[in-house]
Amino acid sequence: MIGPNFGIRESFFARCQSDAAPGKNGNKESEMEIWDAMAARHSVRAYLDKPIGAPVLQKLQDEVAECNRESGLKIRLVCDDSQAFSSFLAHYGKFSCVKNYFALIGEKSENLAEKAGYYGERLVLFAQTLGLNTCWVALSYARGRTLKKLDLGKDEKLACVIAVGYGETQGVPHKSKQVRQVCPAKNFEALPAWFQRGVHAALLAPTAVNQQKFKFELVGERKVRARQTGGFCRGLDLGIVKYHFEQGAGKENFEWAE
Ligand SMILES: Cc1cc2nc3c(=O)[nH]c(=O)nc-3n(C[C@H](O)[C@H](O)[C@H](O)COP(=O)(O)O)c2cc1C
Repeated sequence: MIGPNFGIRESFFARCQSDAAPGKNGNKESEMEIWDAMAARHSVRAYLDKPIGAPVLQKLQDEVAECNRESGLKIRLVCDDSQAFSSFLAHYGKFSCVKNYFALIGEKSENLAEKAGYYGERLVLFAQTLGLNTCWVALSYARGRTLKKLDLGKDEKLACVIAVGYGETQGVPHKSKQVRQVCPAKNFEALPAWFQRGVHAALLAPTAVNQQKFKFELVGERKVRARQTGGFCRGLDLGIVKYHFEQGAGKENFEWAE
């Protein structure tokens, strides 16, 4: 599905899509879908009072199960619960009619936030391909009430929640940094095409308060170093932008450097 707001990135994505020849990365259709989803996704805070139908719900649940199997996280999809977004903070943050959310839960560990960011964004983009809208929410929700409902185990932690449902609108593109602000290379255009695609994809990613405090660096020929350069929700943001980078660059083209 293609959203209405390609905005300033239209020509870049048109180029990437025409580059995405079948056979290069295997499946052209899913590659196109993920590009479309990254470009069409924007945070949506006001939702329609429209339940997620059983077939779509099943797909979401299957994807949650797959993310948990791969990562060891304990993500849950909570449906028909308006309590989590009924607080002053949620109303102040302009959230309305949020009834469903992903609760990003995992065992307490140093890399929980980054892992939750990575797999949470995988769910966000998957939901977008199903015609749903989302918003990452670290602050503007009733955390205490939500924790009570989730009844976590003693070693578990709720890293963040993501509202999901049918939006009143498709949202609007965020104001974005330039590639040079997130990639220290002198001549960005001379870097491999896959790296350039990765950086552009990362700039489309949601970050807390749209801070985009990250940097990507090519190390040697096929290693990429990603780092967060301060701000809020660092681990979550880093996982999110790394997931976008992988989708843009193609996982087969590089490895992450320490
Ligand atoms: C980790 C994280 C936490 C966020 N927490 C909140 C929040 O508490 N309240 C809110 O209204 N938006 C929140 N957002 C949404 C960001 O404000 C939004 O992603 C950013 O402004 C970029 O806009 P976009 O998602 O439309 O591209 C959060 C985003 C991320 C990635």
